[in-house]
Amino acid sequence: MKSPIQIFGCICLLAVVAACGNKASENVEAEHVDPSLKNTFSYDFFVGAAINNGVIEEKDSLATALLKKEFNSITPENIMKWMHIHPSPDKFNFEIADKYVDLGKKNNLHTVGHTLVWHSQLADWVTEVNDSSAMTVILKNHINSIVNRYKGKIDSWDVVNEALNEDGTLRESIFLEVLGDSYLELAFETAAKADPDVQLVYNDYNLTNPEKRAGVIRLVKKLKEKNIKIDAVGMQGHWNLEGPTLEEIETSIIAYHDAGVKVSISELDITVLPNPWDLEGAEVSQNFENSPSMNPYPESLPDSVQNILAKRYQDIFKLFRKHRDKIDRVTFWGINDGSSWLNNWPIDDRTNYPLLFDRNYRPKKAYESVMELNK
Ligand code: XIL
Repeated sequence: MKSPIQIFGCICLLAVVAACGNKASENVEAEHVDPSLKNTFSYDFFVGAAINNGVIEEKDSLATALLKKEFNSITPENIMKWMHIHPSPDKFNFEIADKYVDLGKKNNLHTVGHTLVWHSQLADWVTEVNDSSAMTVILKNHINSIVNRYKGKIDSWDVVNEALNEDGTLRESIFLEVLGDSYLELAFETAAKADPDVQLVYNDYNLTNPEKRAGVIRLVKKLKEKNIKIDAVGMQGHWNLEGPTLEEIETSIIAYHDAGVKVSISELDITVLPNPWDLEGAEVSQNFENSPSMNPYPESLPDSVQNILAKRYQDIFKLFRKHRDKIDRVTFWGINDGSSWLNNWPIDDRTNYPLLFDRNYRPKKAYESVMELNK
C-alpha cells in the first residue's frame, strides 16, 4: 500500500511529466524516474536503436529487455530495404515489417521506416528497368504501397538514402540513370502525398564533409523551393575515435538547421578498429581482407581504449544536448556490440566494440559516461 505522501509524490511526478510537452518526453510517461538513456535525454531528443530480425520477432530476450528499458525509438536494420520488402514486381513481404511496426506501437516507440529509395540492398529486378515511365510507375508504386500501409504508424521515413557522392554531386545509380536528378523530387513528393503527417528524411553518411554537406544543403533548398516536403537530414554517424571532430559535427548540425530542417543522428556507432587504407564513410559494398593487425582486440577491449571510447561518446552527447533544439533523434546502429554490423564491415569477422552495451548486454564504460550527463 502506498502512503498518502507517496501517492502525492506520484501525482506530482505525473503532473510534471504531463506538463513537459517535449517530443521525447511524450513517450516516457511515469517511467521518467528510471535511469536509462531515454530518460536521461527525454527533454532533448529520442534515443533509438536499429533492430534486427531477432529483436523484431522477440527471439532475443536480453536485447528486447534492453530495448524496452533504454530506448524510445526504433529503426529496422534491414527488413524494410527494397530487396527484402519488395523482392519481385508483384510481391511485397509485409509480414515481418508488420511485426516491426506492431512492436513499435505496442511499446509506444517512435518508429522509423528505413529506407524507401537506395542503390544498395535493392532488388535485382529494379536494376533491369531502363525506361523512365516504367521506372516512375515502379518508384511511385513502391513508395505508395509501403507508406500507405504504415500511415499513422511509422513516424519518420528515410525517403532517400545515400544519393550523394563525396563531392556533393549525385551518385550514379539506376534511379539517376533512368530518371535523372528529379527522382529525388519524385520520391519525396510521393511519400508526402501518401502520408502528409509523416516526417520525411534525407539520410546519408559523411555529412560532416564540407563538400557533401553543401550538396545536401543544395538538395534541401531545391526541394523547399519547389514546395516539396523534406523535414530532416539524417546524419548517419558511422564515426571513429578521432573523427569527425566535434567542430565538424557542430558546424554541420548548425548548417542543416539553418537550411530549415531538423537533424536526426540516424545510425550512430563508433568503430575502435583500424581502418583499411584510407576508407571513409559507410558504403556497404566495400569489403577488405581480414588480418591480425586489422583485428587487434579479438578477446576484449583494453581499458585504455574503453576510456577513449567513453570520453568520445560523452563529448559527442554533450554536443548533441547543446543542440537539442536542432536534433530530434539520436539512434544507435544496433543494441549491443555483438550484433553490430561493424563486426563484418568493411572487413568480415572482426571483433568491434562500437556501441554502449557489450556482448553480454551489459553497459560499458561508454554507457556510464553518457549517463553521467544525467547529473
Ligand atoms: C547495414 C546493416 O547494418 C547490415 O546488416 C547490412 O548487411 C548492410 O547494411 N548505412 C545504412 C544502413 O543506411 O542501412 C546500413 O545497414 C549501414 C550503412
